[in-house]
Amino acid sequence: MSTALTFFLAIISHLEVQEKAHKEIISVIRPNRLLIIADKDSLPYVFSLVTEVMRWNSAVPLGVPHVLSQDDVYEGWDLPKNTLVMPNIWHMFHDPEVYDDPMSFIPERYNGDDLEMRKITDLAFGFGRRACPGFYFAEGTLYAIVLTVLTCCEVLPELDDEGKSFIPNVIYTPGGIR
Ligand code: HEM
Repeated sequence: MSTALTFFLAIISHLEVQEKAHKEIISVIRPNRLLIIADKDSLPYVFSLVTEVMRWNSAVPLGVPHVLSQDDVYEGWDLPKNTLVMPNIWHMFHDPEVYDDPMSFIPERYNGDDLEMRKITDLAFGFGRRACPGFYFAEGTLYAIVLTVLTCCEVLPELDDEGKSFIPNVIYTPGGIR
């Protein structure tokens, strides 16, 4: 739900992205049917958009705590068995040495490249044997929402009393899931 709401925030605040994604869909859509997830390969921009939603405002920014099952050393840090480790996924997604202009929403940064997008989902859904078991369900649901909305709707910002559009001042809730 958090990621779906971030998608709506992204497309009302970046109308040019919404238009580009819509145009890509219109170029591949066949008569009398909506898109399905199997159309993925024909929609690199739409899938870059979804990936950027997960990077830009990750729903689970500090992952879930893990505990070391044995002593370890990481970059000179001694980490004894039973150390609690929280992965800073937020930093991984907003590290300016990895992502140029990390606070901006830029689907083009992946160049439609599946491997670049995979680097995001490999982090967003956690690590190792406890990685998110809801990954395929979450991803499929998200794509169903995104493809349907971008195909059938034009989503525009709200209008103020004078009829001017404005982007709401969005504040994410704090906590393990934003
Ligand atoms: C965009 C949506 C989602 C994101 C970003 C997400 C992310 C995560 C992350 C980061 C973890 C921690 C993994 C770790 O320990 O390293 C996790 C765990 C988990 N997720 Fe998700 N998740 C999403 C959707 C879902 C959905 C839809 C379900 C269920 C239908 C689900 C069920 C779970 C469960 C049960 C765990 C705990 C797994 C364990 O500790 O063994 N998640 N998720």
